[in-house]
Amino acid sequence: NDSPKKTITPYLLFCVSTAVIGSLQFGYNTGVINAPEEKLRLFFHNVSLERYGEPFSQGSNTMVWSVAVAIFSVGGMAGSFSVGALVDKFGRRKSMLLANILALLGGGLMGLSSLSRSFEMLIIGRLVIGAFCGAFGTLHQLGVVIGILIAQIFGLESLLGSDLLWPLLLALTILPAVLQSILLPLCPESPRYLLISLNKEEEARKALVRLRGHEDVNDDVQEMKEEGLKMSMEKKVTILELFRSPLYRQPIIIAIILQLSQQLSGINAVFYYSTGIFATAGVTQPIYATIGAGVVNTVFTVVSLFLVERAGRRTLHLIGLAGMAVSALLMTISLALVKTNQALSYMAIVAVFGFVASFEMGPGPIPWFIVAELFSQGPRPAAMAVSGFSNWTANFLVGLGFPKLAEVCGAYVFLIFMVLLIFFFIFTYLRVPETKGRTFDEIAQGFAARAGGKSAAPVSPEAVLTDEPEEEQCCLDE
Ligand code: GLC
Repeated sequence: NDSPKKTITPYLLFCVSTAVIGSLQFGYNTGVINAPEEKLRLFFHNVSLERYGEPFSQGSNTMVWSVAVAIFSVGGMAGSFSVGALVDKFGRRKSMLLANILALLGGGLMGLSSLSRSFEMLIIGRLVIGAFCGAFGTLHQLGVVIGILIAQIFGLESLLGSDLLWPLLLALTILPAVLQSILLPLCPESPRYLLISLNKEEEARKALVRLRGHEDVNDDVQEMKEEGLKMSMEKKVTILELFRSPLYRQPIIIAIILQLSQQLSGINAVFYYSTGIFATAGVTQPIYATIGAGVVNTVFTVVSLFLVERAGRRTLHLIGLAGMAVSALLMTISLALVKTNQALSYMAIVAVFGFVASFEMGPGPIPWFIVAELFSQGPRPAAMAVSGFSNWTANFLVGLGFPKLAEVCGAYVFLIFMVLLIFFFIFTYLRVPETKGRTFDEIAQGFAARAGGKSAAPVSPEAVLTDEPEEEQCCLDE
């Protein structure tokens, strides 16, 4: 990025920002459900009373509530699986535009659910908005965490988190969708897509000239051509081959376990349910603690952006997992003893802050981009699909299971995550290679050596890994 040819122009920033709205949306819809928990439970209670003459039992209410939270991830799975086909057919810009229809639909359903006295509409709305978020593929973590923070702030009782306004809070996701739909037509189609997928060099050049702000775009074009050439030399690998071929088996297992470590760490137990957790811990203003967690989350994502260029991914992931495990233990101690000592509710807050801070050091951002570092172009789309699926499945399990688990295990619920975190730490320590600054070739040879010295055919002879994420990693990157 130091070369004058790779200047970052205001127009480039404008286009990247337009795309990053997708990540903001993902974060917003992750965080938005947290603050109004009590209001939504009351809504379910009232609807049941009006319809059936009696309110839901405590168990049914928890069930409806956790389904409404977690079905978001089922949508996410569907979205992440269909986006590849969509992009192949329509390109990136049009696919994003199309995806925004889902945001309008999902936001509309959730926003009108209270008026229509229908919790089903709310649940379907969450499903649809999940599909929209899943379609954005590789996400930019900074966009995600800012989205979560915005949702937490808007969730304040004095803003949109009130009995009357919560439908608006959930429907607000429509606004960025409209904004993105207005801005996207002002952005060019992705030059990489134009050149590599459509083979339209002239159009790709034109787009590049606009984005870079100068005529000399030969270097960029050359780079993409080389990438395209490599892609055409490598045959596309199917999901089945990914598991069958000894060449890919280890990296795909690593990619899956890293995704699982992100979600089964319990991070979204915090981002979906922290307000309830803090209330249990005796915090008097739980929503402020939730917002505090969002602020810590954002700050540490920025810190990690700098660290990831210096320390290796493996190291950061290990530090993050260890920090989360310790925080989970602290949280358990404070939740278990808070009844006897009120001051421990502060320790609960510190523990949650430590938990999210550690998460953003590694387990948050790293799994999203490691797939692109472990796989060359041939197997990459299949690997992305598999790891996206693993991520959303695990996200779903935590979202659905946490309220029930918390009811059953009480103060000890975070011990489950602690055990999982220790397992992921050991796995990462033993199995995950450092990828920073290494080529696919070197990484592949490392795997082969571990598999018993068989020499693997180079996965991609010349691909050199850079430390910088690809420009378009923020959006619709298959
Ligand atoms: C990551 C996770 C997401 C989580 C977020 C929290 O993006 O994929 O599920 O909510 O981090 O910052």
